[in-house]
Amino acid sequence: MFRRYFLSVLFSFIFYLFPVQVHAQEAPAGDELLGTGKYSDFEKPEVCGTCHMDFYRQWEQAMMSQSYTHHWDEIEYFKLAVPHAEKNEKVAGVKAGCNGCHTPVAFIAGDVPPPLPSENTRANEGVSCDVCHTITGFKGEVPFNFNYTINPGKVKYGPREGLQSPHHETKQSDFIQTTEFCGTCHNEKSPYGVWVKATQLEWSEGPYAKEGVRCQDCHMPKATARISKVSEVREGVSQHLFHGAHSPSKLRGAVEIRLHPDERVVEIDDMVVISVQLFNHKVGHKIPSGSAEERQLWLTVMAYDSEGKAYHLPVDKKGFEGEEYTISSNTLAYQDIGEIMDLPDFKGLARDDLPYEGDRVFRLPYFDPKGRMTIAQWHTASQGTDYRIGPRETKIETFTWELPADIAPGKVRVVAELNYRKLVKSVGEFLEVPAEEMKTQLINRSETWFTVEE
Ligand code: HEC
Ligand code: HEC
Ligand code: HEC
Ligand code: HEC
Ligand code: HEC
Repeated sequence: MFRRYFLSVLFSFIFYLFPVQVHAQEAPAGDELLGTGKYSDFEKPEVCGTCHMDFYRQWEQAMMSQSYTHHWDEIEYFKLAVPHAEKNEKVAGVKAGCNGCHTPVAFIAGDVPPPLPSENTRANEGVSCDVCHTITGFKGEVPFNFNYTINPGKVKYGPREGLQSPHHETKQSDFIQTTEFCGTCHNEKSPYGVWVKATQLEWSEGPYAKEGVRCQDCHMPKATARISKVSEVREGVSQHLFHGAHSPSKLRGAVEIRLHPDERVVEIDDMVVISVQLFNHKVGHKIPSGSAEERQLWLTVMAYDSEGKAYHLPVDKKGFEGEEYTISSNTLAYQDIGEIMDLPDFKGLARDDLPYEGDRVFRLPYFDPKGRMTIAQWHTASQGTDYRIGPRETKIETFTWELPADIAPGKVRVVAELNYRKLVKSVGEFLEVPAEEMKTQLINRSETWFTVEE
C-alpha cells in the first residue's frame, strides 16, 4: 500500500518534471514544422478582431498581414523562387521555406506552394494574430529561418500575467517580449550559409540592445488604451503598428543630415570641399535593414549658383575595398534573373537606375555564386563591403568641387538630399511590380551656402 503510494508520487513527480522538457526538446521548429498541423489549428484574425478591434485594424494595414498577398512577394515567389527551386537542387528548399516566415499557417499545414493569393484561401492570412500569440520559443543558439516552436490552441501567450478572456485562456510569456521572438523571422541565412537578413543580429550588436530598447518598443509603442473592447483601460498597451520601410512616417527623418563648405568665400577657378554628416538617430538596426538586397538609400548633393544654374556633385571616393558598389552606376547586374527565368539573351539590368551616377549609396551588396549582384537573397553566395549606416552611427561624405569658369558670382546654395527606394527600379519594372514599390521617398534634406568672388 505504502509502496504503491510512494511509486505514484514518484511517477507524478517525474511526469511533472518531464512533459515540459520533453516538449521543449522535441517540439518541431524550422523545417521540421512543415506539414505538422492543419489550417484549422489556427483561428482566423477576424475572430480576434471582434474583441481586439484596434489591434486588428492596425495589423491589417501593416505588412505582416500582407506577407503572402503583397504584389511583390507574390511576384518574387512565383516568378523567381519557385521555378528556381524546381531546377536548382541547392535552392530546392525555398519552395517550402519562404512560407515558414511569409505564411506560417500554410507551411505548418504542408500546403506548399500555397494557392495563389487570388484564390483567397487561408494562406492569405500571412503572419496572423494566432501565429505570433501561440509561438512559445525557438530551437537552437540563434533565432533565424523560422526556428520558432509553436503550440496552437486555446492558450494565447501575451506579455501580462492573469488576464481573463471569455474566448481563450491567456498565459504570460517572457519569450514574446524578447527580440529573439522577432529574430526567428527577421534573421535569415541563405542555402549558401550567408546572413541575408540580420535585423535582430544588427540590433544585438548596437547601442539599443545595451540599453534594453527592444524591437517592440519602437515598432509596437506603448499607450494608455483598452486591450479589447470589453476590457478596462490599461497603461502600456502595445500598439500593433509594425511600421517599417513601407510606412513613410517611420522612414521620414530616420537619418539627419547637416553639411558645410570648408571655406565660406571661394574664388572662381578655385576649389571647395563640402562635408556632409549623416546621423542615424532613429533606427535600432542598420538602415537599410531586412531586405537589404533590394533597398536603396542614397545621397544626392546639388549646387545652385546665383543665377539658378544646377550642378550635380559626385561623391569623393574614399578608397575602401568594394567601394564601386557604393557609388551609383548603371553597369549591368542581376544576370541571374535570366538564368532563373530561362531567358538566354538576357544581359542584365541597370544596377542602380538612380537619377544620377556618382551618388553615394549606403548598402550591402549581395552576390550570386558567380559573383554578380543579385536581388535573389536565397541565391546569395557572398556579400561585399557593408556600407549601411548603423544605429547611432554618423558617416561623413565629402564632395570636392572645382568651380567651373563660367559660374555666376554670388551666393551658391548647396543642397543635400537623402532618398530611399524599397526596390531597384530596373528590377521592379522588368518583373512588372507596381510602381508604388519603386517610389522615391525623401528621408531628409539640408542645405548650406558659400559665396563665389570674381
Ligand atoms: C512568423 C514570422 C515573423 C515574426 C515572428 C515577426 N515577423 Fe515581422 N515580418 C515578417 C515577414 C514575412 C515580413 C515581410 C512582410 C512583407 O512581405 O513585406 C515582416 C515585416 C515586418 C515589418 C515591416 C517592414 C516593412 O518593410 O515595412 C516590421 C516593422 C516587422 N515585421 C516587425 C516585427 C517585429 C517588431 C516583430 C517582433 C515583435 C516581428 N516583426 C516578428 C515575419 C515575421
Ligand atoms: C470574445 C472576445 C475575445 C476574442 C474573440 C479574443 N480575445 Fe484575446 N482577450 C480578450 C480579453 C477580454 C482579454 C483580457 C484583456 C484585459 O484584461 O485587458 C484578452 C487577452 C488576450 C491576450 C493576453 C494579453 C496580455 O497582455 O498578456 C492575448 C495574447 C490575446 N487576448 C490574444 C487573442 C488572440 C490571438 C485572439 C484570436 C485568436 C483573441 N485574443 C480573441 C478577449 C478576446
Ligand atoms: C508579429 C507578431 C504579432 C502579431 C502578428 C500580433 N501580435 Fe499581438 N503582440 C505581439 C507582441 C510581441 C506583444 C507584446 C509586446 C511587448 O512585449 O511590448 C503583443 C501583445 C498583444 C496583446 C497584449 C497587449 C498588452 O499590452 O498587454 C494582445 C491582446 C494582442 N497582442 C493581440 C493581438 C491580435 C488580436 C493580433 C491580430 C490582430 C495580434 N496581436 C497580432 C506580437 C504580435
Ligand atoms: C530605436 C528604434 C528601433 C528599434 C529598437 C528597432 N527598430 Fe526597426 N526600424 C526603426 C525605424 C526608424 C525604421 C525605419 C527605417 C528603416 O527602414 O530602416 C525601422 C525599420 C524596420 C524594418 C524595415 C527595414 C527595411 O529596410 O526594410 C524592419 C523589418 C524592422 N525595422 C524590424 C525590427 C526588428 C525585428 C527589431 C528588433 C530586432 C527592430 N526593428 C528594432 C526603428 C527601430
Ligand atoms: C527567415 C524568414 C524569411 C524567409 C525564409 C523568407 N523571408 Fe521574405 N521576408 C522576411 C522578412 C522579415 C521580410 C521583411 C524585411 C524588410 O521589410 O526589410 C521579408 C521581405 C520579403 C520581400 C520584400 C517585401 C517588400 O515589400 O519589400 C519579398 C519579396 C520576400 N521577402 C520574398 C521572399 C521569398 C521569395 C522567399 C523565399 C525564397 C523569402 N522571402 C523567404 C522573412 C523571410
